[in-house]
Amino acid sequence: MIRSFFFLVLLLIFAIAVRAQQLQSPNDQLIMSFVLQADGTPTYQLNYKGQAVIKPSKLGLHLKNDAKSLLDGFSITNTQTTSHDSSWEPVWGEEKIIRNHYNELAVTLTQNGTNRQLIIRFRLFDEGLGFRYEFPAQPNLVYFVIKEERTQFAMAGNHTAFWIAGDYDTQEYDYTTSKLTEIRGLMKSAIQPNASQTPFSDTGVQTALMMKTDAGLYINIHEAALINYSCMHLNLDDKNLVFESWLTPDALGDKGYMQAPTQSPWRTIMVSDDARTILASRITYNLNEPSKIEDTSWIKPTKYVGVWWEMITGKSSWAYTNEVPSVQLGKTDFTKVKPNGIHGANNANVKKFIDFAAQHGFDGVLVEGWNIGWEDWFGNSKDYVFDFVTPYPDFNVTELRDYAKAKGVKLIMHHETSGSTRNYERHLDKAFQFMKANNYDAVKTGYVGSILPKGFYHYDQWTNNHYQHVVEKAAEYKIMVNAHEAVRPTGIARTWPNMIGNESARGTEFQAFGGSKPNHVTILPFTRLIGGPMDYTPGVFEMDISKINPNNNSHVNSTLVNQLALYVTMYSPLQMAADLPENYNRFLDAFQFIKDVALDWDVSKYLEAEPGQYLTIARKAKGKSSWFVGNVNGETPRTSTIAFDFLDATKTYIATIYADAKDAHYKINPQAYTIRKVVVTNKSKLTQLSAAGGGYAISIVEATKEKIKGLKKL
Ligand code: NOJ
Ligand code: CA
Repeated sequence: MIRSFFFLVLLLIFAIAVRAQQLQSPNDQLIMSFVLQADGTPTYQLNYKGQAVIKPSKLGLHLKNDAKSLLDGFSITNTQTTSHDSSWEPVWGEEKIIRNHYNELAVTLTQNGTNRQLIIRFRLFDEGLGFRYEFPAQPNLVYFVIKEERTQFAMAGNHTAFWIAGDYDTQEYDYTTSKLTEIRGLMKSAIQPNASQTPFSDTGVQTALMMKTDAGLYINIHEAALINYSCMHLNLDDKNLVFESWLTPDALGDKGYMQAPTQSPWRTIMVSDDARTILASRITYNLNEPSKIEDTSWIKPTKYVGVWWEMITGKSSWAYTNEVPSVQLGKTDFTKVKPNGIHGANNANVKKFIDFAAQHGFDGVLVEGWNIGWEDWFGNSKDYVFDFVTPYPDFNVTELRDYAKAKGVKLIMHHETSGSTRNYERHLDKAFQFMKANNYDAVKTGYVGSILPKGFYHYDQWTNNHYQHVVEKAAEYKIMVNAHEAVRPTGIARTWPNMIGNESARGTEFQAFGGSKPNHVTILPFTRLIGGPMDYTPGVFEMDISKINPNNNSHVNSTLVNQLALYVTMYSPLQMAADLPENYNRFLDAFQFIKDVALDWDVSKYLEAEPGQYLTIARKAKGKSSWFVGNVNGETPRTSTIAFDFLDATKTYIATIYADAKDAHYKINPQAYTIRKVVVTNKSKLTQLSAAGGGYAISIVEATKEKIKGLKKL
């Protein structure tokens, strides 16, 4: 009797062990199956409308100094399914209300022999899957070191991918579009010569990775809530078309120092047969925790200009002098050094920018190169270059503070850390106190060069913790952060909405370092922007950089109108108008769009989208009746057709359409544009040509009867 009872129990355990656990998305279009292989290796697969998106793929982690890694020998000891449907309001964003709707499966695995427990939690949304590893508190797994995470993503075909090289220190590459099997052959040419590092393998790429299958499915792999963990790259086994996670190592080659209870970030796979669904998905934010900042009233979307493009183009300099006076901060006597005569952050120039910002209604003025250290840093990798509180002699902090205040403009702080994370941490409190005392409430940080201490990388766990520490410390001081060269965002801005911007991709600066591909901006929303807003710094009106600096022959590969559209297509609560005031003064009619465009939105409509080719987005300004539309176009001229059915049917509007002229072209005729005003309603339709590297931008405002007199209907 007892024996047969045990037999039954055994049979039951066996049945649980081999049975596939299935999870369906709320709309039933996605199915995820979890299967434990005969040797106890966890696997999962994902289907969309009956098509394989992820073929059976292994899950697990390889631990350091551990005879038994978390790879196999598991039995399922518990499963739990739940459903969730709620909504939340972001502090800023592409829409006012975000729905978080998913079905969840949590599988508890117990490892035979070690008795260790691992939970794999899957959340299946209508547009994709998120899953993560959880390590509950337990006696046999307390402190452990990850040698490698072994999460696989087995592709069902030789998809087209939009990829950049897997690199531990830069994300500022142009994208390459190729078949998966072509990655290896193209890797060398995909690494730009000015990149500081080399990728870890011939088939390693970064996330967010955007792909398109031959059958027309769009697949996007990324991660969410990258906290206290190393950033994930993907390494392709190009014979079998299987990606495997490849974490960023630290100076010892280790990939994660863990202490249970803890968890990995979420791994995300978005999928749809409509590219617009990828742009509209909020999976990445939904997989992050709600805001930890209670009073968010001080977090404000910001439009700014800056003493910046003139340094980027090489017209002026960050450093005050070309002499290297001293590495002893605070002891440098700058009255004795020879100024180089081209220092950008001088009082008169900063005042010029403050005046321009005040005149045109901008919120802020970024000033880089205001503090001593640049002369010591350039070309040297030194630890103690900047103290973040000592201005150059021609930058009068209090005078400029009062000048800006009187004009209703905020100065934006700049902290170039020179990659020295420890030096920055040592000075952080004083630097933030200095900011507060001088009326700054936003900082742009930067991490150019190799990370110091030596041997660490921009995206390893230790350095990621540094970026996170800065954001949390800034929140204590009510400071907004825009980090350049930091790890690519993973939706953490939901939890820390003072992180109003990041660079973490190839920004506009590269247009002055030789140029970027004209279709770059049609890819970024599908890749880099999946994790959060980018400080892309658009708004360049003079494409011939030699007109700013005769020694710089770069050409900005974009039409002027394409630059306008970016304020809509590249969503960010922080937007710069990057060009010089004198260039805006030449095109004030087009500049009007940059002045008018909103930074925060109630609704976003993704009207047309094809990665690498074009996209058209319409957004409704937060709390207002006005709308803005942006279209950006790749290499091939194209006619876009959109309906204005998103408008309120009871209202009449005036649309100001900024379009490429018929003969516009990003290379040979970028400044040719037309501006027309027409009356539109929700019945209107627009057919509009976008030039190569071009686009169009529209501002739509509610109109009174008097105002529409004399205007034509669209
Ligand atoms: C690189 C950043 O992307 C750029 O915006 C900044 O001006 C320089 N570093 C100097 O910090
Ligand atoms: Ca950069």
